[in-house]
Amino acid sequence: MTSTAEATAQVGVVGLAVMGRNLARNFANHGYTVAVYNRTTARTDEMMAAHGEEGSFVPSAELADFVASLERPRRIIIMVQAGKGTDATIDSLVELLEEGDIVVDGGNAHYEDTQRREAALRAKGLHFFGVGVSGGEEGALNGPSIMPGGPAEGYKAIGPLLEDISAKYDGTPCCAHIGPDGAGHFVKMVHNGIEYADMEFIAEAYDVLRAAGLSVPEISETFREWNTGDLDSYLIEITSEVLDQTDATTGKALVDVISDAAGQKGTGRWTVQIALELGVPVNTIAESVFARGISGHADLRAAGREHVPGPARSLAGGDRAQLIEGVRQALWTAKVVAYAQGLDLIRTASLQNDWNVDVASVATIWRAGCIIRARLLERIRAEYAADNLPTLLAAPSIVAGIEETNEGARRLIGAAQQAGVPVPGFAAALAYLDQVRADRLPAALIQGQRDFFGAHTYQRVDTEGTFHTEWSGDRSETRLD
Ligand code: ATR
Repeated sequence: MTSTAEATAQVGVVGLAVMGRNLARNFANHGYTVAVYNRTTARTDEMMAAHGEEGSFVPSAELADFVASLERPRRIIIMVQAGKGTDATIDSLVELLEEGDIVVDGGNAHYEDTQRREAALRAKGLHFFGVGVSGGEEGALNGPSIMPGGPAEGYKAIGPLLEDISAKYDGTPCCAHIGPDGAGHFVKMVHNGIEYADMEFIAEAYDVLRAAGLSVPEISETFREWNTGDLDSYLIEITSEVLDQTDATTGKALVDVISDAAGQKGTGRWTVQIALELGVPVNTIAESVFARGISGHADLRAAGREHVPGPARSLAGGDRAQLIEGVRQALWTAKVVAYAQGLDLIRTASLQNDWNVDVASVATIWRAGCIIRARLLERIRAEYAADNLPTLLAAPSIVAGIEETNEGARRLIGAAQQAGVPVPGFAAALAYLDQVRADRLPAALIQGQRDFFGAHTYQRVDTEGTFHTEWSGDRSETRLD
């Protein structure tokens, strides 16, 4: 393909919707010459008109010119609609690229798609990276958390650029090579799963506080205060701001006029689906996905409102300060459990796929830039860096935190349930803690039932072997091996 463009750009961005445009501007703000291309040229023109003066951009109307405008090895970041958009873009790009060039998918791809694409591009001598980018529009522009997965060899050429434009925590980039092929997108997916859980817990805290009679401004103030302590996080911070917002039309708190049906784009659902396949219990994340689901079931909720009995949801009348502290403790507990479950899922997938993901490094790059950034993540990083933990819940400082919050969290969760205020995320977290710490689980009874109706057999605690009881006969026990 002939082109008049000179190869002057150090990095290229394909797809100039808001995330792509902001990433391109972020590279330019860091002094890079950035090639930009969008399928519909009007979008490129629009971006150049609005931001062309901010740095050094090389716009192209044709993909071939865009490719020719990049120095080698070419470094191309694709920021198009996930799925068909990504495949279509990759297909047209590979025709124009040469061995050693680097293609990065910065969208929210399913990690198995990333594995497939990585293998296909590797076969053509190209380096393919599936890169999770978190932080929303603002993060893309000013420093996102970046989770790159792909070949270690290619990382040398693209990693320093990504680290450069990422958020920094105490000077450390919130970007590190996660592992090969789908590892980066997997970690981004779990990040989103934890984000779902975190948002659900905050929503439950808000709901309980309202049932206790706090006004919206009082709840906003409570979150603001929590944000100065161990719960300090981006999501708590924005919660205060959302609660502060007054609706211009009605003069009410905006939260009271927003429809109570939550949307979702699917990464929370993927997290739960994959966790089920890998056999990793992530009940807090599952409850958060289901809670969004229930919120959108208008017919189910109408029938429930009409027919399902229960207490009038009020927690008013008790010791208010104690209740608020109980909510804080339940929130802390639930948050820690969601991190523990998400990190377990990453560790299990890493073993299964030979990714060799360093959990401490994952916590490192989540400390700033991303939606789940939180003070707690520095502690989690330090705990995983110090020890190869079987679960976050075994980390000394987390154990101490659970000891401190446990009684208050339990009291609060019990009171909420008694009053009919739904706290599925909090309750799931507590159930998980009680399951993992139990000496004996009632799974023994389930094994007995399975053996009864399906001869599924069982093991005994006092001897080796597989056993079956003749339930429909004389009820004697046989050893099968
Ligand atoms: P947003 O929701 O912010 O618009 P998006 O839908 O995730 O973002 O991504 C839109 C981007 O993907 C656009 O750059 C779009 O190109 P157009 O401006 O031409 O629509 C790009 N995109 C979507 N499908 C594509 C495809 N099949 N080939 C190339 N680019 C595609």
